[in-house]
Amino acid sequence: MDKIIIEGGRKLKGEVEVSGSKNACLPLMVAALLGKGRSRITGAPDLMDVRTMGQVIRTLGAEAELADGVFSLDSRGFSRCEAPYDLVRTMRASIYVMGPLLARLGRARVSLPGGCAIGARPINLHLAGFEALGAKVVLKHGYVEATAKKLKGARIVLDKPSVGATCNLMMAAALAQGTSYLHNAAQEPEITDLANFLNRMGGRVQGAGTDCIEIKGVSSLTGCEYAVIPDRIEAATFLCAAAITGGSIRVRRARLDHLGFVAEKLALHGMQLSEEDGALRVVPARGPKPVNICTMPYPGFPTDLQAQWMALMAVTPGTSVITETIWENRFLHVSELTRLGADISIQGNSAVVKGVRRLSGAPVMASDLRASAALVLAALAARGRTEISRIYHLDRGYEALEKKLARLGARVKRVGAA
Ligand code: UD1
Repeated sequence: MDKIIIEGGRKLKGEVEVSGSKNACLPLMVAALLGKGRSRITGAPDLMDVRTMGQVIRTLGAEAELADGVFSLDSRGFSRCEAPYDLVRTMRASIYVMGPLLARLGRARVSLPGGCAIGARPINLHLAGFEALGAKVVLKHGYVEATAKKLKGARIVLDKPSVGATCNLMMAAALAQGTSYLHNAAQEPEITDLANFLNRMGGRVQGAGTDCIEIKGVSSLTGCEYAVIPDRIEAATFLCAAAITGGSIRVRRARLDHLGFVAEKLALHGMQLSEEDGALRVVPARGPKPVNICTMPYPGFPTDLQAQWMALMAVTPGTSVITETIWENRFLHVSELTRLGADISIQGNSAVVKGVRRLSGAPVMASDLRASAALVLAALAARGRTEISRIYHLDRGYEALEKKLARLGARVKRVGAA
């Protein structure tokens, strides 16, 4: 297993480009199964999760390939309805295949995803939505089995604005008979991207980006070509990297309009953000201030940036409170940040962070995707050498992070474990 080794203490400078969004790309890849024929998704990031989704799609009989930032899919062989445990357990987003399976084949057999390090990850909202669209859903031997001769449009109220359930139900409803309304829908930019993609295929989806999405079912969709949006979490991670090292950088393809509350929080911390020819320029804070955050659905502060924000607060003078409301167990990075000298105590679903003058490098272990990014950020600010192991978590969601940071002047390298 590879490790990342960082000698901290260098201010970042220069320019970096954000890759395509992982969380937008995964549902688009699956939505391409809804179209008859070929689709091309450009700007697809070369990440473990994207490769795993490609494998899931091939298991269903379609042709799928990721090469040079383009994901190509030919849905003509799409005929098998089972997503097996071995694949689904490695990536919970595999559950996205249920929507297209039900819509096009009328049958889905998908392994129940199970929980992960950050939380239980239920799929009850996906299943209740499929039932509302007329599917019969049963759980058997660890698998969800769903059948529907023809899905029928329905009015669905989600108990929570789940990103996954919103995507899955939009895809299913796109080929249903009649009109569906998703109330309390997730509003993330990735949802709008999926709606745009479905419309490019000939779908009739309106209202994405608000809490009510209308999906008029159509009888068929065609393949299409589409460019995925840039990754807002990666962009924000670079902004935090600049802040934590006191560096000034330009982040190309970072979209201010996708940052939601993050931009405000960075401004409160004292950073200056400005838009410049398709890039965001960040100038570090002179006297950085601690800033409390509470994770919320979009446009609230993203849970996927909570760990990175905690790393930043760990070296910001003063006390801040970080509250996690989306995932019940998303503070696994706290003990590792503490190994680097951070002063953090957990009280229920909040972490109280007292900024220290300096972190000091140490061997640490990544526990999940965003926790790994937080450790990288902390290591960039720490005095001395930090060795981060289990970075396969990082490879699930950040494309060539160490190379991009090295180009910004960080002393970082990846080594294969002996
Ligand atoms: C997606 C993102 C993930 C991010 C999360 C929240 C992808 C591939 N993953 O995950 O990075 O952290 O959004 O922004 O896009 N819930 C239920 N029942 C359900 C579904 C969800 O109770 O059927 C709950 C979850 O336990 C959680 C909350 O709803 O507390 C949000 O989950 P959801 O938005 O569905 O997250 P994912 O789509 O799994």
